[in-house]
Amino acid sequence: MGLAIIFIAQFLFMYSNTQTSQLQKQTTNFLQHPETITETALEALRQCLRFHEHRYYILNDPLISDFEYDQLFKALEKIEASNPAIITADSPTQRVAKSLTKEFPAAQHLVPMLSLDNSYNADDLLNFDRKARELTGLDTIEYCVEPKFDGGSISVIFENDLLVRGATRGDGESGDEITTNIKQIKTIPLSAKFSDYGLQQVEVRGEVLISKNNFARYNQQLTEQGQTPLANPRNSAAGTLRVKDPVEVQKRHLEAFVYHVSYYTLAAGKTTPKELTTHADALEMLWQLGFRSPQKEKTVVQGIAAVIDYCNAFEIKRDDLPYEIDGMVIKVNNLALQEKMGMTSHHPRWAIAYKFKARQGTSKLLNVEFQVGRTGAVTPVAKLEPVPIGGVTVSSISIHNEEYIKEKDLQIGDTVLIERAGDVIPQIVKSMPDLRTGKEKPIVFPTHCPVCNSQLFKEAEEAVWRCINIECPAQVVERIIHFVSKDAMDIRGFGDANVRKFYELNLLHDIPGIYTLDLDAIGKMEGFGKKSIDNLKVAIENSKQQPLNRLIYALGIRFVGETTAKTLANAVTHLADFKNFTLEQLQALEDIGPKVAGSIQHFFSNPANIEMLYALEQLGLPLQNQKKQLVTAHLPN
Ligand code: IVH
Repeated sequence: MGLAIIFIAQFLFMYSNTQTSQLQKQTTNFLQHPETITETALEALRQCLRFHEHRYYILNDPLISDFEYDQLFKALEKIEASNPAIITADSPTQRVAKSLTKEFPAAQHLVPMLSLDNSYNADDLLNFDRKARELTGLDTIEYCVEPKFDGGSISVIFENDLLVRGATRGDGESGDEITTNIKQIKTIPLSAKFSDYGLQQVEVRGEVLISKNNFARYNQQLTEQGQTPLANPRNSAAGTLRVKDPVEVQKRHLEAFVYHVSYYTLAAGKTTPKELTTHADALEMLWQLGFRSPQKEKTVVQGIAAVIDYCNAFEIKRDDLPYEIDGMVIKVNNLALQEKMGMTSHHPRWAIAYKFKARQGTSKLLNVEFQVGRTGAVTPVAKLEPVPIGGVTVSSISIHNEEYIKEKDLQIGDTVLIERAGDVIPQIVKSMPDLRTGKEKPIVFPTHCPVCNSQLFKEAEEAVWRCINIECPAQVVERIIHFVSKDAMDIRGFGDANVRKFYELNLLHDIPGIYTLDLDAIGKMEGFGKKSIDNLKVAIENSKQQPLNRLIYALGIRFVGETTAKTLANAVTHLADFKNFTLEQLQALEDIGPKVAGSIQHFFSNPANIEMLYALEQLGLPLQNQKKQLVTAHLPN
C-alpha cells in the first residue's frame, strides 16, 4: 500500500505547496485589485474560493479572514448574477438553494445501505476476530479502526466528477433525495476529480454532524427566541437533513465525515485503480479529493489486540472531540478480503461497531418546579430521582416548555430515559408510558408567576409563558447574575450564590447597586474572608474598563447576543444615542432583523433603563464608544 499511496500523494495531492502559494498569490491579487475580477477570471476566482473553503473546513487552517472570503464570494455572486449562463453546477455560489424545497422524492441507493453489527466489550471483539480469521483462513488480520460518528447517515453520488445526488439512509434500500441540503455542507466538495482515479460514477457514504459548539450556539438562540431547543446533536443533524428551508439548514452549520466508497464504475477503458486495494487507501483517496474523511483519526493495525487498545484510547479522548462519536468502527482493511467475507442481509461480515459505554440511564420524574429567568420566561424543571450518567449524577433537567412536555408525553411519576451527550446538558429522551401504574399526575402549568404572582402571558408565535413584571425579584436577580457573568462584565468572585445572598439580605437591588455595595461591611459578615472581598473589590473596579460591547451584552436585552452587541457598540458614539434610533435605522445594521430591532427599541424607550444607564455612567462606566471617538477625532476637517 505504501508505495501506491506515495504515488498518489505525489501526483494528486489536493493542493501541493506550489499550488498553495499560487492560489494564495492569486487571492491577494483579487483582493487588492478587485477590478481584475471579470468574467474571464471567474474559474480562477472559483478555484481560489474552493481552496480557501478546503483550508477552513477540512484543514482548520484558514489563510484569509472571513471578511476577505466574503468579499471574494460576493464578487463571484455579482458577476454570476449579471450573466446566469456562466454559472456552473459546482460554483461555490451553488451551495444554498434560492427557494424552499417542496418535497424530498424517494432515492434508490445504488447498493443497499447496510447497518453494522454491534460489539460492547473486548470479548465481543475477540469473537468478531475469531470469525473473521475462520472466514479468511488467515492467522492475523489487518484492521482499519476509525471513529463511529454519531449523526445522520447519508449517501452521495458523483458522476463525471460532479455531485449529482445526495440521499438519507431511509430504510437502507431507498431514502429521501436531499441533494440541495447536502450541497450546503462545506466539507463535501461539489465536484471531485474521481476521474484521476479512472472512476466514472461513485457512491460514497458518510455521516452528517453538528459540532458540539454549533449545537450549543443554535440551541441557545432557540431558547432566547422562546422556541423549543433540540434534544441532542445527533437528532438535530439527522433532522436538519430533512428541513425544507435552505436558509434554516444553513444556520445549523452541518458538517460531514465521509468514510466509505460503497460503489463505483470505471471510466471507459480504465481498470480498477491499483492504488485502491485497502479501506485506508479509499480514505486517503477521499481526503486527497477534498473530502473530510477520517484520514487522521483512523489507524491501521495487525490483529485484534491492537484494535482493542486503540478503541480504549479513543474512548478516553471522546469528550475532547469537537463532535459526538458513540463508538469505533473496525473494518477488515483489505478490500478483496472484504469481498470474500461478504455480508448478511443486515450487515457486512467484515466490519463491526464497537459501542462506547452508553450515557443513558432511566430515572423517575418526581416533581416539576417552575423557574423564572432573566427575560421572565418560566421554565419547567424536572426533579428526578438522582441517577449517575457517564460519571455525573443527574437530578434536575430543564423540560423547556408546555409543547415539549406534550411532545415527550411527560407526567409526574413517569419513568424517563435520560441521555447526556458528552458535555451537552442532559436531556429527557422519552417517557415510558408502558410502565405507568395509574398513579401518575399531569404536569400543570401555573397561570401566575411562582415568584411575584403576576399573571403569565404567552405571545402568539412563542412556546414559553412569561412573567412581564420587570420588577419581579426573580428577573432582577437573574439580570444581575447575567451582568456579572464571565462573557458579560466578567466580575469574578461575584457568582450566582453571592448575587442571591446580597439580594436576599437587601444589600443589592439593581445593576448600578453592584458599584455602590458596601463591601467593607460585607467583609465583616460571617462567611466572607478578607481576601475574597478584596478580590471582589478589584474585579468590580476592573469591570469599569470593559469595552462598550460587553456592557451592551451585559444589559441582557432580549435577542442581543455577543455578536449583535458588537454591531451595536460600533454603531454609536454614546450608548444613549439608541434612544433616537428608528426601527429602520436599527434594521439597517448588520444581521438585525425586525424582531431584534423591536426588542432593542423597546429597551431604549423605557425611561427606567435610560436612567439606569446614566447611573452607571455616573459610577464610572464609560458609555462612549472610545474606538469610534478616536477614529472621528483623527478625521481631517
Ligand atoms: S461503515 C457497509 N463507518 O453507523 C458499512 N459507519 O450503526 C458502512 N457510522 O449505518 C458503514 N461512523 O451510519 C461506517 N466510520 C464509520 C461510521 C459509520 C458512523 C454509522 C453508519 C452506520 C451506522 C451503523
